[in-house]
Amino acid sequence: MNVKIETGCVLKKGLPEGFVITDKNVFEKYGSLVKGEKFIIGVGEKSKSLEVYGEILKELGDTKRIIALGGGVVGDLVGFVASTYKRGIDLIQVPTTLLAMVDSSIGGKTGINLGEKKNYVGTFYQASGVLIDLLFLEKLPEEEFRNGVAEIVKYGLVFGVPSLERLEKGIFLTDEDLSEIISQCVDYKVEVVGKDKLDKGFRHVLNFGHTIGHAIELVFSLRHGEAISIGILIEMKLGKMKGIFTDEQINVAEKILKKNGLPVYLPVNLDIDNMISLMKQDKKGSLVFSFNEENQEVVFDESEIREVLENG
Ligand code: GLY
Repeated sequence: MNVKIETGCVLKKGLPEGFVITDKNVFEKYGSLVKGEKFIIGVGEKSKSLEVYGEILKELGDTKRIIALGGGVVGDLVGFVASTYKRGIDLIQVPTTLLAMVDSSIGGKTGINLGEKKNYVGTFYQASGVLIDLLFLEKLPEEEFRNGVAEIVKYGLVFGVPSLERLEKGIFLTDEDLSEIISQCVDYKVEVVGKDKLDKGFRHVLNFGHTIGHAIELVFSLRHGEAISIGILIEMKLGKMKGIFTDEQINVAEKILKKNGLPVYLPVNLDIDNMISLMKQDKKGSLVFSFNEENQEVVFDESEIREVLENG
């Protein structure tokens, strides 16, 4: 996996040759980058469907390389297209959101949804290259930037990098060290994926905050990062039950998430039964959580999860 982080590497130097797949929003902003064949999908999760997948396949002809230009939805869908077309053709990921830069464009997870079931059909398929150009962030809406910051906070809490002191200052587009922070997250992602490409165990640490977060995201239609932020705090409270986190660590995490403009409270009117069934679906039946490198497969009873969800 070849990851290049360089300001202007795409917006100043242009895209590599290949069939470009992007979404309507990205194309409106960056259409001039696309010189050759292209396919434009609709914006949002609904495009990760079997229908859109089929429509793209019909257009690919003798394409030898696909360029995924966009955020997480584009990356997941296009990765799946590239991995299955003619049993796999060359793929370059060009992430345009902070979340895709620090997480989803790296590591080869691809997928589409089966109705309500998120990422139920997918593969592991590594892109031959990931081109991260920070200039894309200049036109990213603030709430989309925050979405990615939630994943950066996750790296800090799991690996200690970026440091908690740094995260407490908040992460902003104008920060001089933004490129360094992105690069630190990318390094961790590459390292973790390198140890567990197929997500059999060690890689689960990257899902910290995500089991609760995915359920919240589905029920309350929050942005991924917002749901993950709430999920991180709830999972820390779960971890506290097993002596993995202290109140002080939870308070620090809460302070960091708030400083970074992310929500920390569970929405009211929580349907706890539904949340638990969504978590089981997410975890393929079990309630096992991964908190950090030392605590990777911690099993919880439904009653423990219920207790934390009831008490917030
Ligand atoms: N986003 C978590 C992973 O790639 O494993």
